[in-house]
Amino acid sequence: MNFRSLPKVDLHRHLDGSVRVSTLRDLAVSGGFRLPTRDLRKLKAYCQVGPDCRSLGDFLEKFFFFYEFLKSPEAVERIACEICEDAAKDNVVYLEARFAPALQARAGFTMKQVVEAAIRGIQRGRKKFGIDARIILCCYRSESPASSIETVELAKRYRRSGVVGVDLAGDESRYPAEPHYRAFDLARKYRIPVTVHAGEAGGAENVREAVERLGAVRIGHGIRSLEDGAVLDLLRSRRIPLEICPTSNVQTCLAKTLELHPLKDLANTGIGVTVNSDDPGVSGITLSHEYEAAVRRCGLTCAQMAAAARRAVDAAFCDDPARRRLREKIERAWKGI
Ligand code: ADE
Ligand code: ZN
Repeated sequence: MNFRSLPKVDLHRHLDGSVRVSTLRDLAVSGGFRLPTRDLRKLKAYCQVGPDCRSLGDFLEKFFFFYEFLKSPEAVERIACEICEDAAKDNVVYLEARFAPALQARAGFTMKQVVEAAIRGIQRGRKKFGIDARIILCCYRSESPASSIETVELAKRYRRSGVVGVDLAGDESRYPAEPHYRAFDLARKYRIPVTVHAGEAGGAENVREAVERLGAVRIGHGIRSLEDGAVLDLLRSRRIPLEICPTSNVQTCLAKTLELHPLKDLANTGIGVTVNSDDPGVSGITLSHEYEAAVRRCGLTCAQMAAAARRAVDAAFCDDPARRRLREKIERAWKGI
């Protein structure tokens, strides 16, 4: 099966985790930042995870090497356009790109301006590369509750400009969700769809909290739901799908190898699973690579992979006319698989 040639949906891809190493070099140079090397091969070691990555904390550490380079309107607009180009090249036809405005703002570049720059880049990328791309704004566990409230307010303000949902990201093993409850109460009040990174570096109880307290209708990762049958029942009964990102889970040492990743077990328990890329730049992968890994290494059948592709269409945060167009595209190409 050639997954690269098939149209795909990516519901879980971080904008900051998708930047090309060559773009990071350009941005560092044009921004006047010092780089340890300008050699792209050597620079890769600073921007991408290697075998020394032992945890989600180590993984997220990589981002802090390059965050400073991304804090300008030109940088944000460029990477938002390039995420569309790279996804379209891999035959991703619908993309939800997510980022935390609080992490890319600085003095003189507000969270609102970060969002506006990303919207410009995504709109340009959509037109230029023919991809349907939307935006999810992330609240971030280690940032302040006030910044999460501002993030949700921005999601409301720009919902007619392609912002379709909110997320809670960051290191679940070190930072609880509780300080951000009020922000998610607000998201519920505004009827903004919610997805939450949970059951990744934290246990199944965090998945329950994401659903019952934060109002999540999708879960980022969630693979540790397998530790609690009642949480699996909760996901099944509410038809809440998981956004699985196999390589990312191996790199953060959640699974030892792709062969030992619980994707197949989750699919076999009747939980809705989707396959996504998380941070293709930092991980050095594509979505096609993840689809192939899901089948060849995690053990999904091709029929289960097709079901995952269809499940992603059902779970997308876009409006129904866009979903119908997307469903047609996916059905036409995946029919009979
Ligand atoms: N931000 C980027 N990748 C992430 C991940 N896998 N978990 C939580 N936050 C993230
Ligand atoms: Zn993620």
